[in-house]
Amino acid sequence: MVIPGVHIKIENLAHRYRARSALVLDRAEAEVAPGEALAILGRSGCGKSTLLHILAGLMRPSAGAVYLDGKAVEGPSPRWVMMFQQPSLFPWMQVAQNVGIGLRFARLPKVEVASRVAEALRLVDLESHAEANVQDLSGGQQQRVALARSLVMKPELLLLDEPFSALDAFTRAALQRDVRSIVKRLGLTLVIVTHDIDEAALMADRALIMAGPPGTIVEAVTIDIKGQRERKDPEVRAARERLMKSFEAVAGPSPGAVESSPAAVAAVAALAVAQA
Ligand SMILES: Nc1ncnc2c1ncn2[C@@H]1O[C@H](COP(=O)(O)OP(=O)(O)OP(=O)(O)O)[C@@H](O)[C@H]1O
Ligand SMILES: [Mg+2]
Repeated sequence: MVIPGVHIKIENLAHRYRARSALVLDRAEAEVAPGEALAILGRSGCGKSTLLHILAGLMRPSAGAVYLDGKAVEGPSPRWVMMFQQPSLFPWMQVAQNVGIGLRFARLPKVEVASRVAEALRLVDLESHAEANVQDLSGGQQQRVALARSLVMKPELLLLDEPFSALDAFTRAALQRDVRSIVKRLGLTLVIVTHDIDEAALMADRALIMAGPPGTIVEAVTIDIKGQRERKDPEVRAARERLMKSFEAVAGPSPGAVESSPAAVAAVAALAVAQA
């Protein structure tokens, strides 16, 4: 299964949720190459999810446009799929039924549904769980089912909105590695929204740093690392440092830095004294 990734052009996007409310996106511009893995990094509330919803055609921007392979996005399409933090599976259905639901809605013949579901489950390493009930699976396995349900549609673009943030560190690391390797093997374009700098360093070919509100894209950091990526690799560490620098320059000190800032240290010390 090889899927040609889609080219994305984001042109001068602006968005406000209500006519009189403040802008949440303003002049956001970017371009993504076919097959590129792109991370969008930014602080909470800067407009990342809003941007992703517009990319997916789930929302129309107030101004500007998104073009996929040169065609303006006007609504959702099976050519691009979005995955959220919660897998939102049907708990009363087995794994294979959950994965095949989109194909059954599209009225594909049963044999084709079965073979595509089997292929998608193989990709996410869940073949042996095809007949399991989803509520018997771990959170990480459920997120893999959601990934298989997305991949089975043979999308050209996978849009992820902090999909691993509810998982423990080990499960998250495994999924980050596997999603990158699957996306690269299939050739599809990936856009992942995150405020986790490690996630961007481990998964992306390039990260766009967003400032806001109102959200706008202010910097791009290339992460050119060949082959498998591990957190402890010097190249991954170096990428993390570069991302951290850009992120802090754009969005202020990172949460870790805030915790050890002089003001925070003084506040913790004061609290300790008060409790003593
Ligand atoms: N449905 C909505 N109606 C009105 N305002 C909204 C809506 N969704 C988001 N907003 C506002 O738009 C701004 C950007 O929100 P958005 O969810 O895009 O941020 P985000 O970068 O994804 O944040 P987080 O990292 O916390 O998920 C915020 O100020 C938010 O309050
Ligand atoms: Mg969000």
